[in-house]
Amino acid sequence: MNFVPKATAFFVLALIALQFVEPVLGSRKKRSNSEKLINLLGTQDLVTNLPGQPAVDFKHYAGYVTVNQTNGRALFYWFYEAATNPDAKPLVLWLNGGPGCSSVGYGATQEIGPFIVDTDGHGIRLNNYSWNKEANMLFLESPVGVGFSYSNTTSDYENLGDVFTANDAYTFLHKWFLKFPSYRTRTFYIAGESYAGKYVPELAEFIYDKNKDPSLHIDLKGILLGNPETSDAEDWRGLVDYAWSHAVISDETHKIIRESCDFDRNDTWSNKDCTLAVDEVLKQYKEIDIYSLYTSVCIGDTASSDDGSMQVMMKRTSTMMPRIMGGYDPCLDEYTKTFYNRPEVQKALHVSDGVRLKNWSICNNKIFDDWAYSKPSVLPIYKKLIAAGLRIWVYSGDTDGRVPVLSTRYSLSALGLPIIKAWSPWYHQKQVSGWFQEYEGLTFATFRGAGHAVPCFKPSNSLALFTSFLLGESLPSARR
Ligand SMILES: *[C@@H]1O[C@H](CO)[C@@H](O)[C@H](O)[C@H]1NC(C)=O
Ligand SMILES: *[C@@H]1O[C@H](CO)[C@@H](O)[C@H](O)[C@H]1NC(C)=O
Ligand SMILES: *[C@@H]1O[C@H](CO)[C@@H](O)[C@H](O)[C@H]1NC(C)=O
Ligand SMILES: *[C@@H]1O[C@H](CO)[C@@H](O)[C@H](O)[C@H]1NC(C)=O
Ligand SMILES: *[C@@H]1O[C@H](CO)[C@@H](O)[C@H](O)[C@H]1NC(C)=O
Repeated sequence: MNFVPKATAFFVLALIALQFVEPVLGSRKKRSNSEKLINLLGTQDLVTNLPGQPAVDFKHYAGYVTVNQTNGRALFYWFYEAATNPDAKPLVLWLNGGPGCSSVGYGATQEIGPFIVDTDGHGIRLNNYSWNKEANMLFLESPVGVGFSYSNTTSDYENLGDVFTANDAYTFLHKWFLKFPSYRTRTFYIAGESYAGKYVPELAEFIYDKNKDPSLHIDLKGILLGNPETSDAEDWRGLVDYAWSHAVISDETHKIIRESCDFDRNDTWSNKDCTLAVDEVLKQYKEIDIYSLYTSVCIGDTASSDDGSMQVMMKRTSTMMPRIMGGYDPCLDEYTKTFYNRPEVQKALHVSDGVRLKNWSICNNKIFDDWAYSKPSVLPIYKKLIAAGLRIWVYSGDTDGRVPVLSTRYSLSALGLPIIKAWSPWYHQKQVSGWFQEYEGLTFATFRGAGHAVPCFKPSNSLALFTSFLLGESLPSARR
């Protein structure tokens, strides 16, 4: 792979750029030169006039990073410095899933960013439980074709898959460090939910392998995963068992699935009885919100909610497990779409000149449909990262039917890790927030009454878990 020497070259370039920038601060000479060099850094990406943005004390940056010059691939990021003392806090990369969904549309503006899209569709409001209270938060729209990220070579879109995504995300990181050199050696974590359950460990493994070259070293310390797709067989078993145990499907349907579906095989879906019974599960889930069993579906006049039924995006091919899109609330999705397609917003985020606009949508269904390669299981990567001493935390909102808590428990059970702290409640604000269990090398925690995108439902509890994760401390196991 030829980006290795290239990335090294860029790092050297950054050092040169730095040497130029430093003395210039003290002298007014060679101003035009210095301005060119300063443009290599993130300064030009500083967001200064985002419409409706509440006043804040921290800086945030948004823009493009070119990840492949030949094909013209550029990834869009939005980076929020920590609200206080950013120099002393770690860097966390957040990824959403799909595949094809936007980390800016979901993670940054519906879940854990400092500015949350307001339901009037025009503005944003402050999120009191933003994760940038504890860390410098980097949101990446990945891969190309997602959100504002793009490729000038259309054939790239036909080759998208897990490996492609990890490659570009890795190149992105090194090139992003050139813009923000003070983060180059910072303690680093990767977090994400849903299909990012695949992306996150895959990128972590990529970094871990590349770290053998000291010039490429990234100080990756751990990963955090929410309702993550992990192992197709376990995920499917969990999905159908959860639907049955939560009274979404009948005993009869469940029995047919148990008898006719072998999720461990690569030809599971060639069994007609199995296929029909699983279709029945999805049919029932179309009536409610699969991502949050006990909340109302979005019944509005928005384009994405056709006659009130949730859109359960589903793709089935003979060689691959059928996949269901991982996303969340179609009502909020519409508000987000309105916001990111505003000319002044695109201009403020350095996406367009405010005239020739980019067409932003929260999930790109074509990417989801055309996904060329999905790793069937990332459990072998878990093993490798655990052996490497990385911190791994997995959490699960227990009212999600899409990647339900049962799927995660089946996956962790398949890992067979020794238990070092037995199942017990964890508390937040004197209430049981969920349960947790510590394994050798991995912590698992549930969120009681939270759906797929946990921080949407439990913002304060989520921030508490994030804080414990960063500190590497056990969750609070007493009612205080
Ligand atoms: C750019 O992308 C193409 C297609 O994915 C790949 O063949 C090529 O090696 C990439 N170039 C670099 C410099 O990484
Ligand atoms: C993609 O093409 C446009 C139009 O030619 C150009 O302005 C832009 O810089 C290209 N993007 C990349 C990443 O090369
Ligand atoms: C956010 O926190 C501030 C200060 O603690 C408080 O005044 C405000 O009501 C909070 N907003 C929300 C929506 O909780
Ligand atoms: C499916 O699995 C069988 C053996 O279990 C193997 O021979 C076959 O090549 C696999 N097919 C695909 C498409 O992976
Ligand atoms: C924007 O993309 C959507 C699909 O995501 C498409 O239906 C629509 O026609 C596009 N609009 C423009 C102006 O390209």
